[in-house]
Amino acid sequence: MKSIYILFAVLFSTPLAFFGAPEIVKSPNGNVEVNFSVENGVPFYSVNFKGKPAVLKSRLGLELAKLPSLMDGFSLDKSERSSFYETWKPVWGETAEIQNHYNEALFTLSQKSPARKMLLRFRVYDDGVGFRYEFPKQPALNFITVKDEHTQFAMPGDITAFWIPADNGTQEYEYVKSKLSEIRKIMPAATNKTDWASPVGPTSVQTSLQLITNDGIYMNIHEAALVDYSCMHLKLDDKNMVFESELVADPTGNKCYLVADAKTPWRTIILGDKAVDMLSSNLILNLNEPCKIADTSWIKPVKYVGVWWEMITGKSAWSYTSEKALPLTKEAYAKAKPHGRHGATTENVKRYIDFAAKHGFDQVLVEGWNIGWEDWANKEKENVFDFVTPYPDFNLPVLLEYAKSKGVRLMMHHETAGQVRNYERHLDKALQFMKENGYNSIKGGYVGYIIPWGESHYGQYMNNHYLYVVKKAAENKIMVNAHEAVRPTGLCRTYPNLIGNESARGTEYQAFGGSRPEHVTILPFTRLQGGPMDYTPGIFNMDISSFNPRNKSKVLSTICNQLALYVTLYSPLQMAADFPEHYEKHMDAFQFIKDVAVDWDDSRYIDAEPGKFIIAARKAKGSENWFAGCVVNSEGRDTELKLDFLSPGKTYAATIYSDAPHADFEKNPHAYKIEKRDVKSSDTLKIRCARGGGWAISFFPKP
Ligand code: NOJ
Ligand code: CA
Repeated sequence: MKSIYILFAVLFSTPLAFFGAPEIVKSPNGNVEVNFSVENGVPFYSVNFKGKPAVLKSRLGLELAKLPSLMDGFSLDKSERSSFYETWKPVWGETAEIQNHYNEALFTLSQKSPARKMLLRFRVYDDGVGFRYEFPKQPALNFITVKDEHTQFAMPGDITAFWIPADNGTQEYEYVKSKLSEIRKIMPAATNKTDWASPVGPTSVQTSLQLITNDGIYMNIHEAALVDYSCMHLKLDDKNMVFESELVADPTGNKCYLVADAKTPWRTIILGDKAVDMLSSNLILNLNEPCKIADTSWIKPVKYVGVWWEMITGKSAWSYTSEKALPLTKEAYAKAKPHGRHGATTENVKRYIDFAAKHGFDQVLVEGWNIGWEDWANKEKENVFDFVTPYPDFNLPVLLEYAKSKGVRLMMHHETAGQVRNYERHLDKALQFMKENGYNSIKGGYVGYIIPWGESHYGQYMNNHYLYVVKKAAENKIMVNAHEAVRPTGLCRTYPNLIGNESARGTEYQAFGGSRPEHVTILPFTRLQGGPMDYTPGIFNMDISSFNPRNKSKVLSTICNQLALYVTLYSPLQMAADFPEHYEKHMDAFQFIKDVAVDWDDSRYIDAEPGKFIIAARKAKGSENWFAGCVVNSEGRDTELKLDFLSPGKTYAATIYSDAPHADFEKNPHAYKIEKRDVKSSDTLKIRCARGGGWAISFFPKP
């Protein structure tokens, strides 16, 4: 990886002050302080931010399935301290360079009978804490079956949370803002009723969890580097306001299987005074390992269009025929009778290629190109896809040639329908097929029950699968964007070919009943902490029934809110998700989607409040162009943008895309205005946002 390392590490062991006294670990500027102690054989920690309590004294430990527990009977043998500083350059990212600066403490704990050691490693940053358990190889601890991890996060009272229900089958929820004490009451109404949903419990929530303490501290709990372990939900003891880790189980009820040397993922707590501090934190990326891909020159951010929204809205179909349970062969499909609503036809894909080429998009996603969709998700059938055989009306050689002649690539789509064994069996062949045909990126998907039956989407088995695909793809110089995979935990630092994930409620739900405008003001605080989201913004026609009378859903957003998402929802992979014919009606507004960058030298979160609004500005990679965006909730808002991020003394041609005076996400979502004017860094813009609206601005320096 292209990195500049300016690093120093100071290592020293402290003699343990006296038995039972807490060990204090402070962040480099002293704002974050961790206290660690072992009392009556039990390890505890607490966290303060600027002298105020963030996490109260909380217990640590694990229960094992076949061995005595790692919960108590410990003594603290050793405390090793070190400091670390580096700057590293991400292959793609929100900023050109990232600073990684922390103080570390490694505590060695031992039990007498059986004689075993467990380490706790804390990294304390100015914007939070990461800690993990480590299990060195030792005679009495080789094979570790985790029955339960009991990491607690004791909250400082009945604080505010932005949460979604813990669920082992889906993360595609709208967020709820409530006090911790209200979670139990709200949970039944908040829980998804779909077939593949698998809610966990009455007070269990997913991470990344955004919190605001009653002292006004912003706090986010999540995990970093989820590798060879199961995903952590949080179960609230709502009498005492204590969260405890609740790992996703396998079909036998066990949580994880580790072989020493082993370690857990980092448990992360991001802290700040202001909401924007949460958005600019790099703590989760920093806790992941540096890039493991030697040559990253082939990894490139992607702006794309695709044959997608038409299937999601029900205008066309992924499948080719209404016949069911066909053998998965080219011959069987050649004989099948087409139903006439197939989206991925040669002719239709050409239309998208033309549009992409005309407007400078890199790729065209085509879903429903391959045989098998007739029987895809939630059927009691395995082996529904082979990932290499096109439908009879999708002429791959012709389309590849056509795309190539226009300087556009096709994006591969691998929906697995949750059939992981089947996908792994076909993966080598599928990747080879992609290489032979010049594809360099996959949109993956895991809709439906997981097969092997009984596994859930976020257990250790599946988490290992998602990473296996990313690594295999990297060997073949292929980028991956998996939908329905476990929510990210910063692994894109180590494997930057993981250019996106969905793993939350994306634009598709605007066609499944809608998502309230609040949703996109919360996602960057929660889901995006672990890595970029393939949210698929850019819908310009909010009235789905205008092209599919059977679908009464409305897209709950204004056009300017859709434009702003390209700035406020960071991703190196951005789709313009609507149909070419819808963009053609608003080419003046579409210009913003054409102009906006997907890779950045600098990003500034200017003002934000989860559930209310986000204002961000970003400088395009390798250029002096800036883009700013603002999304607001269903109340609307008067906003102000100081342009002091622009270079002083320069004049910029600004194009301001904002909601028209009577715009409203419910009543008048398509009304916008565009103003062009010259601006300088000393200027301030005042812009009114409609209910569910927003604005987007491009700034190009004038010669
Ligand atoms: C769900 C994904 O989120 C969506 O983008 C995709 O079109 C369908 N699965 C089919 O793969
Ligand atoms: Ca999805």
